[in-house]
Amino acid sequence: MAAFVDPKLLHGKTILLTGASGGIGYFTARELARRGARMVLVCRDAERAEKARANIVHAVPEALVDVLLCDLSLLANVRELAAEVGRRYEKLDVLVNNAGVMPGPLRITTEGHELSWVTNHLSVFALTNLLLPQLDAAGKARVVTVASDGHWLGEIEASQAVRNDPDKYSSFAAYCDSKLANILFTNELAHRLDLTGITANCLHPGIVDTGLVNPNSSWLLKTMWGLGKPFMVSPERGAQTSIFLASAPEVAHVSGRYFKHSKPARLLSGNAQNRTEASRLWQISAEETGIG
Ligand SMILES: NC(=O)c1ccc[n+]([C@@H]2O[C@H](COP(=O)([O-])OP(=O)(O)OC[C@H]3O[C@@H](n4cnc5c(N)ncnc54)[C@H](OP(=O)(O)O)[C@@H]3O)[C@@H](O)[C@H]2O)c1
Repeated sequence: MAAFVDPKLLHGKTILLTGASGGIGYFTARELARRGARMVLVCRDAERAEKARANIVHAVPEALVDVLLCDLSLLANVRELAAEVGRRYEKLDVLVNNAGVMPGPLRITTEGHELSWVTNHLSVFALTNLLLPQLDAAGKARVVTVASDGHWLGEIEASQAVRNDPDKYSSFAAYCDSKLANILFTNELAHRLDLTGITANCLHPGIVDTGLVNPNSSWLLKTMWGLGKPFMVSPERGAQTSIFLASAPEVAHVSGRYFKHSKPARLLSGNAQNRTEASRLWQISAEETGIG
């Protein structure tokens, strides 16, 4: 029997979620809509966005769903997105930073950033900081960022020097760096927002059968992903911890934590717990984005 979901739990709340077109993000958005939130889906592709919106409304006929288009790999777009959110919504109760990319060969954007660093981290840093006025206006708000156990292999400063170097580039390493950054960012944000009404937490969703590893990914990653498929969880299940952090009353006052299976979890590397590293990352990110 399906668990009871209170359709009024999030009544009157506005939740912005990035990467809602598929995978974990789609199911997170659908289930938060089922709990009564107005969902703002941020997607980069109009057709996939409309499909996600229509599927949510089909599953939850009373759902309130808006779509905003933004390619998060360009910070100019992130600024435009934040401005549009500011024009449309007086307050934001929850921001779910879910969008992410597992890069293939080295790709540098027209703004000069490596693809996964900017999509998975710099855009999260920029968007969250730019939306703080709307989050603050909610009185009590939550920032939920989808990180990964892959943070275990991440490095920040050592990688910074080689991130854009084609001879030294490893797409998997770049992904892990960005996921470590999600955790350090969350720690520092929670620290900076202490004594405000805004909490910040992050999570590992499990190993989830989504489109994260895609035709552009390296053959090694595609092979490993293919072998691992029978052990992966569905995207619907992978969405559970995001849904929990965005909506559960019991975590309303919890901040600066890493979650798995909807429970606080141990970080897998000393780097991820390092306060100096967290504030250094903030400084690097502020320099790279011109925000914060
Ligand atoms: N799957 C796993 O095992 C796993 C494990 C740990 C952490 N995660 C994290 O979970 C999050 C969701 O990933 P997923 O597994 O659900 O993968 P996914 O199916 O590939 O979904 C990723 C989402 O991000 C969007 N996205 C990617 N680049 C974007 C950009 N430049 N601008 C706007 N949207 C963009 C995608 O949009 P399009 O549809 O346009 O591509 C898609 O909606 C990611 O942060 C990932 O790092 C996943």
